[in-house]
Order: sequence, then C-alpha cells, then structure tokens
Amino acid sequence: MISKNIASDVSKLLARDTSGHGIEHVERVVKLALSLAESEEADKNVVTLAALLHDVDDYKLFGQESADGLLNARQILDKHKVDEETAAAVLEIIGSMGYNKYLEGIRPSTLEGKIVSDADMCDAIGAIGILRTHAYALSKGNEFFDNTLSPENGTMSADQYRAARKGHSVQHFFDKLLKISEILMTEAGRREGEKRKAIMVNFLEELFAEEGAQEWQGYLRAYGASVSDYNGNK
Ligand code: ADP
Ligand code: NI
Repeated sequence: MISKNIASDVSKLLARDTSGHGIEHVERVVKLALSLAESEEADKNVVTLAALLHDVDDYKLFGQESADGLLNARQILDKHKVDEETAAAVLEIIGSMGYNKYLEGIRPSTLEGKIVSDADMCDAIGAIGILRTHAYALSKGNEFFDNTLSPENGTMSADQYRAARKGHSVQHFFDKLLKISEILMTEAGRREGEKRKAIMVNFLEELFAEEGAQEWQGYLRAYGASVSDYNGNK
C-alpha cells in the first residue's frame, strides 16, 4: 500500500513536532478529508496524498526554504513514484492551503484542495482543537487563559498572526479558531465546522463562568450559538 509507506515517511519527519502537528493530526485530517469527500465527487487518491503530505513542509518545523519549495513533499512523491499528474495536483493543494495562505489571499482552487483544507482547519477546532491549544500552550510555556488582557477584534495580517504565537490560548480562539467555520469551502466542511464551533463556544462560556470572567462572556456573545442552542435549533 503506497499510502501506508508514505504515512510512515511522514511520521518520521513529523516526529520532532511538539506543537500539534504530529502524525496523529495528519491521520485525523486524512480520515476527516475522506469522510468529507464522501458527499463530493472528489479524487480520493489525491485527497489522501495531499492530506498525508500537507504538513511535511510547514515553515515552523522545516524552515522557509522547505515551505517555499515544498521540498519534503516533492521528495516523498518522487521516492514513491507517484505519477506526475497526481503529484502536481497534490503539490498545488499543499502550496495553497493553511491559515497563513488564507491571510495572504491564497486559497485552494480544486475540489480536492477545498476538502483537505477544510479537514485541516476542522482539526484545529472542536474538542480536538481545544486539546491542541492546551498542548500548544504547554509546549511554549504560555498561559491558557490570562483574563487581565482583552481580545482584539478584527482580522489580522499574516505578520500579526505570526507575532501572536506567544499569546495565551484563549486569545487564539478569538484571533482564529472561532472564525474558522466561516471560511470553510465545502458544504460538508461547513456543517462539521459549525458543530465544532458550538463545542468551543460552550467550553469558553463554561471556562469564563468558572473563572468569573464576565467581561469575556460579553466578547463571546458575538460568536453566537453554543452547543445547547445548536442542538435545540437545528
Ligand atoms: P495549523 O497548521 O493546523 O493551521 P498552527 O500551526 O497554527 O495550526 O498551530 C498548531 C496548533 O496549535 C493548532 O491546533 C493551533 O490552534 C494551536 N495554536 C497555534 N497558535 C496558538 C496559540 N497562540 N495559543 C494556543 N494554541 C495555538
Ligand atoms: Ni495541519
């Protein structure tokens, strides 16, 4: 099985990761992408390969040169003799997805790209998303919630987003995670995203209640439905 061998190469490359980009993330993205692909006429081989390889040239782990040239992805596709057309489709997807690319105005253009991008973004939100922010904060020595600060509203530039990496996790929900469901590109992805957003709103409501952070409850209201509203209305 070619994708099994590729998964093993990806696993080795991502072994150095401590911030939520490990092979477990990749395996969840493959699974969710294939499930989103069920309701669309997508090429599942391209979806699987792009999902497997989408983080092997992440600039945070492998540097800018690797990110610009997609060097690891190319090397793996080459090694496993993936045909040229498939490899080109996969590289096109990897080079056009990710939140930073979105902030730069770059989005995937193919159906397979939209599916893999939605699956990757969905893995940053919902229950898993909450756990990943906690793991990230621990790995960076950041606080999870600093209620002496207040969230900034509005959209950030790619530079501002990179600079925000030192902030507390709750800030990250307001900067990015609560907005993700709005930028998903497939019907099935948007449905999954809405559900996961409601889980985060519910969690934050509870966190702010337990911490006595009324001011933050107010900020959260802009993001609408919690799980109980969602279950009641849909
Ligand atoms: P991705 O590659 O999935 O877009 P990132 O590289 O931005 O994700 O971050 C990896 C994981 O760490 C994600 O789950 C993200 O939500 C989380 N994360 C990123 N920045 C922060 C932060 N400042 N505080 C808490 N969690 C963060
Ligand atoms: Ni990812």
